[in-house]
Amino acid sequence: MDKFVINGGNKLYGEVSVSGAKNAAVAIIPAVVLSDEPCVIENLPKIKDVSVILAILEHMGAKVRKVDGDDSRVEIDPRGITSHKVTCEKLVGDMRASYYLLGALLGKFGKAVVPFSGGCSFCERPIDLHLKAFETLGAKTNICPNRIELSSERLEGRPIYFDVVSVGATMNAMLAAVKVPGRTIIDRAAKEPHIVDLANFLNSMGANIKGAGTDVIKIRGVEKLHSCTYSIIPDQIEAGTYMAAVAAAGGNVLIKDVIPEHLDSITAKLRDTGTLVEEYDEAVRVVRENTLKSCNVKTMPHPGFPTDMQPQFVALLSTANGRSRVMECVWESRFSYIPQLRKMGADIIENGNTAHIYGKQRLTGAKVRALDLRAGAAMVIAGLSAEGITEIADIKYIERGYEKIIEKLTSIGADIRRVTYKEDIEDDL
Ligand code: EPZ
Repeated sequence: MDKFVINGGNKLYGEVSVSGAKNAAVAIIPAVVLSDEPCVIENLPKIKDVSVILAILEHMGAKVRKVDGDDSRVEIDPRGITSHKVTCEKLVGDMRASYYLLGALLGKFGKAVVPFSGGCSFCERPIDLHLKAFETLGAKTNICPNRIELSSERLEGRPIYFDVVSVGATMNAMLAAVKVPGRTIIDRAAKEPHIVDLANFLNSMGANIKGAGTDVIKIRGVEKLHSCTYSIIPDQIEAGTYMAAVAAAGGNVLIKDVIPEHLDSITAKLRDTGTLVEEYDEAVRVVRENTLKSCNVKTMPHPGFPTDMQPQFVALLSTANGRSRVMECVWESRFSYIPQLRKMGADIIENGNTAHIYGKQRLTGAKVRALDLRAGAAMVIAGLSAEGITEIADIKYIERGYEKIIEKLTSIGADIRRVTYKEDIEDDL
């Protein structure tokens, strides 16, 4: 087993580049299933979730080839996928986003069989809205103990209304509808940057999707989708995580290869803490010299403050001067990591969906766990600003979503390394 060991207290200086967006990549790769020709996807992040979804497609019969030996540029030829059934349960169980195969296979074959997916399980993660969208288009759904079966006689474009705004259900509805005859209108669609990226990718293959990024997405079904070369947007949450890391540790870092508008809500909250954020065309500079000020944060679907930045901000605000309040309004519960922060001396009281944070001057290094991807990122941020040594176990969750995190943080001056350990010695964590 490996853990991260951080010797906290170094301020961060220099430049760091952001990789392609995980949550766009894990939808765009399954979307290639819908194409009748090979596609080249560029700016793929080199992370576990991407290698798993590529392996799933290969298992289904697709040919996957690195272009010029570069992992971030991959050609996917879906023509060998001839079955609507996904049989690699183990791989599918490794990642939540494999549910996008439901929409993609339904769109391609009019039916799908996909094992239940795994992934970050910080709370109950329903898919009723995904199924509702498929049923609206004319599919029959059958939930078996270990898989989901979709079938249809004839799919037809229809209006789909979501009573809860859902990223996954919006993406899946787009995937399912893009080749379905007629007009599908998705009302109360999610508006995250990765929704727009998936729509742009599908349109590059010849789809007819309008309105992505607004509440209403209109899709006119097309018969065929063709090859394209498409570059994935930068990862909003990876960028936000480095921004929060600089704010927590202090210093002055240029965060490159970002779309600053995607970071607006994060930038606004960092400015509330007294952190300076300068925006350039494709970069942001984060400077933190003075004591952090407390602030209140409420997570909301885009363009609100992203839930995937909530744990990192709770870690950051743990050392802000005064009392901060963080409300989680997207997921029913996403505070299970707070006891880990308390081990480092954080003073946080949970009350329902709200965390009340009484800022301390400094946290203290401790042995903690990464309970999921973003909770793990929060531990890294806490460790960078803390006094002394922080050891983070279960780093596999962090590495599912952050490309080369050790190398990137080391390059801006953090003292962080990966250490192999025997689990039985460390079970006091
Ligand atoms: C995506 O998950 C992201 N995952 C999550 O990021 C992110 O936290 C979430 O969107 C919200 O932004 C991927 O893109 C792979 P939702 P998703 O459907 O699509 C409720 C990370 O750290 N809901 O937008 O599964 C649900 O309970 C991960 O990178 C239903 O009620 O999230 C939640 O309260 C973790 N029924 C709300 O909608 C449904 O059928 C939003 O969830 C689906 C969702």
